[in-house]
Parts: sequence; C-alpha cells; structure tokens
Amino acid sequence: MANNILEMRGVTKHFPGVLALDDVTFSVQSGTVHALMGENGAGKSTLMKCLFGIYKMDAGSIILKDRECRFYSAADAMAAGVSMIHQELSNVPERSVAQNLWLGREPLNKLRLIDHQKMFRDTKTLLEGLNYHFDPGARMASLSISQQQGCEIARAVSYNASIVVMDEPTSSLTENEVAHLFEIIRELRSKGVAIIYISHKMEEIFQIADDVTVMRDGKVIGTYPANDLNGDKLISLMVGRDLTHRFPPVESHIGDVCLEVKNLTAANPRSFKNISFQLRKGEILGLGGLVGAQRTELVEAIFGIRDVASGEILVDGKPLRKIRPRNAIEAGLGLVTEDRRSTGIFPLLSITVNTAIASLGNYRNKIGLLDHKKLTGTAAKQNSQLNTKTPSMGTLIQNLSGGNQQKVILSRWLMTLPEILIMDEPTRGIDVGAKYEIYTIMADLVKQGKAIIMVSSEMPELIGMSHRVLVLCAGQLTGTLEKADITQETIMRCATRFS
Ligand SMILES: Nc1ncnc2c1ncn2[C@@H]1O[C@H](COP(=O)(O)OP(=O)(O)OP(=O)(O)O)[C@@H](O)[C@H]1O
Ligand SMILES: [Mg+2]
Repeated sequence: MANNILEMRGVTKHFPGVLALDDVTFSVQSGTVHALMGENGAGKSTLMKCLFGIYKMDAGSIILKDRECRFYSAADAMAAGVSMIHQELSNVPERSVAQNLWLGREPLNKLRLIDHQKMFRDTKTLLEGLNYHFDPGARMASLSISQQQGCEIARAVSYNASIVVMDEPTSSLTENEVAHLFEIIRELRSKGVAIIYISHKMEEIFQIADDVTVMRDGKVIGTYPANDLNGDKLISLMVGRDLTHRFPPVESHIGDVCLEVKNLTAANPRSFKNISFQLRKGEILGLGGLVGAQRTELVEAIFGIRDVASGEILVDGKPLRKIRPRNAIEAGLGLVTEDRRSTGIFPLLSITVNTAIASLGNYRNKIGLLDHKKLTGTAAKQNSQLNTKTPSMGTLIQNLSGGNQQKVILSRWLMTLPEILIMDEPTRGIDVGAKYEIYTIMADLVKQGKAIIMVSSEMPELIGMSHRVLVLCAGQLTGTLEKADITQETIMRCATRFS
C-alpha cells in the first residue's frame, strides 16, 4: 500500500524448542494506531523485539519508508525513528529524568562539556509538550510508572520517531493516566506517527485502534479495520474458537468465617487505616478500588510482607501470632502477587523450581529428602492445567512470555494447597482464553470450600466472579457490596468517595 511506513516480510524466529515467529508479514500505515493482539505466547513481543534489533531474526526483511533496513541494536532503531515503550521500563533509576533522556547523546557546549542547562530546558519543553508536569531534575526512581512512561515517550518524540511501539502500556496506570496516554497517542497519530499498540484489554483496542492484526502461535491470522470487528469476533480470531461465556458459574457453599481482619492499620501513615472484614469458606471476596487505593498494601500486610501498626488477623478464629509470610503460609494463606517482575519470579531458575519453591515442605519423603519425582510431576501437572505455554519444564522462566510467567506464579500458589488464596490482579496481562481457565480454577477452589480474596481493577471480573466486593478508597474501606448490589456504578461510587 502507498503509505505503508513499515513492512515486515517473512519474519521467522526460533528459540530453543519454540518457533516463536513463523513467516510473519505485517505492515503498518503512518498516522494510524495499529493494535497487535493474540494469546499469551503468540509472538507479539518477539515480533517487536525483532523490529527493534533486540532479537536477531532468522529470516525476513524489514522495509521502513520503502527502504530495506535492519537494526542491530535499539540505538540503531531509535536513530532511524523507531521507538519502543517497553513492558519493562528500562531507565537508570538513580539518574535524573534529563540525564536518562539524553543518555549517550548529551548536548555539548563550546568547551565540549555537557550543557546541563540546555539538557534541562529541552527536557522541560518536551515533557510540557506532552502535558507532563514534573521536574526534569527529579530522580527517575522517584517518579510514578506513568511519569516514567512519559519520559520514554518524550525520548521517542526527541528522536522524531515515526513509529512508536507500546507493549502493554496501561497495565499499571490509573484511569486518568490512561486517558492522558490516549490523548498523547491521538496527538502523535495526528502528526503522522504510526503507533503499534499491544494490549490484552479489549475495550482499549476499540477505543484507540484503527487497525488490528491478530497473531496466533507465531503466525499472523489477519489484519482488520477495527470498525469491522467486535469483541466476540476478535476473541474467536485470537483463540481460534468461539468463547460464549466470559465467566464460569460459581457454585459454592458459603460456610464459616475462615479469616477475620480487625482494625488493621498500616505502619506507613499514608497507607490503609482501620480495615475490618470477614471472609468465609467458599467465598470469593472481590477487593475493588482505583489504582493507589492501597489494596495491594492491604493484602501484603495480611500476608505479612508489610508492617502493620495495629490490628489483628484471625485465621479460623485463632489470631496469627506474628504477622510474617512464614506464619501466614503455615496458617494456610497464599498470595499471588501483582507485580511478577519484582516480587514474583526468579528469572534465572527453571519453571519447575519457580513453581515448586513455595511448597517444598510438602514434598519430603520419610527421611526428609525431597521427592523430586513427585515434585516435578505435580509442578508439571499444575502448569498444564493452566495451559502454561513452554517448550519444557526446565526452561528458564525469563524466557516465557509475560502472560505465561503469570501462570507459573499462579501454579506456585495452587501447589501450596492454600485454604485462603489471595490473588492480586490475577489476570493482568493474561489473554482472554487463559482468563477463563483461571476463573474456572477459582470456581473449583471455592467449590472445595477454600476461600479467595481477589484484588482486581477489572470491573467485569469483579462483577462476574465475586460473591461480595469490598471497595477501598485512599486507604479506607468505603463500601461492602453484596452480590445483588455489585455493579460498575456502585463500585465506582465507593471507589471515588473522597474525590
Ligand atoms: N528469549 C527467549 N528465549 C526463549 N524463548 C522465548 C524468548 N522470548 C520469547 N520466547 C518464546 O517465544 C514465544 C513468543 O513469546 P512472546 O513473548 O513474543 O509472546 P507474546 O505474544 O508477547 O505473549 P504475552 O501476551 O504473554 O506477552 C513464547 O513461546 C515464548 O516462550
Ligand atoms: Mg508480550
């Protein structure tokens, strides 16, 4: 087509045991938002990393503005106007915003020294042009995720990027921050920039995308104008079959109280205060609220990762002696963390070890040695139940796609056979098909009499799966909604009580 700014032709990429990209052809027009969709492990990130020169393609060509080119590093790609806002933000945390932005290409003064004033001025102009208002001298580490992302976008703009790739950019943003990002995307598009947008959030795609390319198992299924698609069509293209129900039925018997939290207040004065609630056997208790409501802080405190100033936690009526993860695990609690990168995975260890690491105690034989065979077998079974996509159980977890890493973490906690499972954003970064599998496992667990606390920012999930929903706003409990009262409106009303 005439105004294709980018064409990738016949791209193939093997990893040991995986054909990640199989003869992929993909083209993007300038001045459009092009969504790249597909199940976990479909090859989306790999395709973009090939474009960006992070991975070397086995075969294929890249045609940028009608000229064949190949990048050997991210710096090459950026110099040619191809920028990528990474899933994992990649800054130097201890340096300032300005230093990060101009790293390796600092402006020099007449004496050939770094011109700090110009660097700061230019950074300020760039950020303000994107409607971000924070200090170019601030340390990167002191910024929020959204601000750090702003820096990466500013860097792309500074390179005059004609293509900007965004890989799951909204996963940790608040609603206002998402709206801000979308404004920027629209602005870039109107200037002729092509945006390649990867996300598992269907609503976002229909809000922002012009075209959608769907991938499955390393192949491109097709490219469609977003207007020709709807949710159901898109899902069936991605998973290769119709998915008529988004949630399985939750049929459980609600039993006795198994967890009671009494007046729990965080040690950090800016965190949650005076939280009390009960959880019953067989119950899925949703925990809703906006990003920043202190939900993660609360569940981490219950699990003993964060310090509390006062309050009590009772499991089956007995107070936890000390609130420490070890005691929590012994008392039958499990926690699937929200941020798998910093608190979840051990990148350089295998999937087996990553899965088994929290339940080694259950796999000792009579003389106290690890029963490797049983352990490996259970770890494998658990992962296959969740359809974790991997060449083998010995593969390093860092080589899995984002969503598949999340499934390993979930397998880990399922293997500890917890009575009370706390799940923090359990389906973040997970594709629609796999979400259903996770929901089914949740439904099975509560059917067996276990209890679940599910922190979620996804309304449909809170509404579709919870028996009750607690809502937090600015560290306070602002609502307890019974099944019949759980709606988008009631949740939002409680979630914004103080704004
Ligand atoms: N560095 C690597 N080494 C080995 N295998 C890899 C590596 N990177 C990706 N893979 C494999 O390539 C396949 C495609 O992965 P990719 O990360 O591109 O998926 P994705 O579509 O981005 O999925 P997600 O939605 O979960 O992020 C997967 O099977 C993955 O395990
Ligand atoms: Mg990915």
